[in-house]
Amino acid sequence: MLKDLGSVPAVFPMPVLMVATYGEDGKVDVMNVAWGGICGMDKIALNLAPDRKTLKNIQAKKAFTVALADEAHIKEADFLGTASGNVMSDKFERTGLTAVKSSRVDAPVIQEFKVTMECKLEEVRECFGEMRVVGTIVNVLADEKVLDEKGKVDAGKLNAVMFDQFRNTYYTVGKEFAQAWRVGAPLMKK
Ligand SMILES: Cc1cc2nc3c(=O)[nH]c(=O)nc-3n(C[C@H](O)[C@H](O)[C@H](O)COP(=O)(O)O)c2cc1C
Repeated sequence: MLKDLGSVPAVFPMPVLMVATYGEDGKVDVMNVAWGGICGMDKIALNLAPDRKTLKNIQAKKAFTVALADEAHIKEADFLGTASGNVMSDKFERTGLTAVKSSRVDAPVIQEFKVTMECKLEEVRECFGEMRVVGTIVNVLADEKVLDEKGKVDAGKLNAVMFDQFRNTYYTVGKEFAQAWRVGAPLMKK
């Protein structure tokens, strides 16, 4: 029997994106963003609450990076979604993670994450009370350990995590089990 759950966001999985920025003072901040995703071939959109330090930093530097959180760093990823750079001056240092400056955009690259998108800001727009940030992905950095023999990211090697907004939990990614645009092909022939 189907039950009504009301008007709630019911998409699963949500990503666990690590959005890294510099403040005007050059300080590194990283925040956890689940309400974000790809919105064009080279575009990424983030939905940020107006008070986020990350938003101020993005507006100041016109740049940010977005990395995929993994199992090995779930404690740090969750903390980065709880503490704010607005009030905790050593937020990033507490994680023990390390940052280097991107060579392409004015934003930090967190070295421990395996896949990082270097993004330049395109627009920030108020949208239903939230701020919608859209950036162009100018480059992707990937640790060679997660690449397959053709140089593509092998998601099976990433140990990326997913966010479940129904019960506020994190999931690990399961095994690969079907090929997109192929598994449904028999139905095209009916
Ligand atoms: C799993 C998870 C997902 C989150 N997703 C978002 C999001 O999409 N947008 C947002 O504004 N805040 C989100 N947050 C909350 C921010 O990460 C949190 O407020 C953080 O302290 C902001 O850091 P900052 O002020 O240093 O930028 C999320 C937190 C968690 C734990």
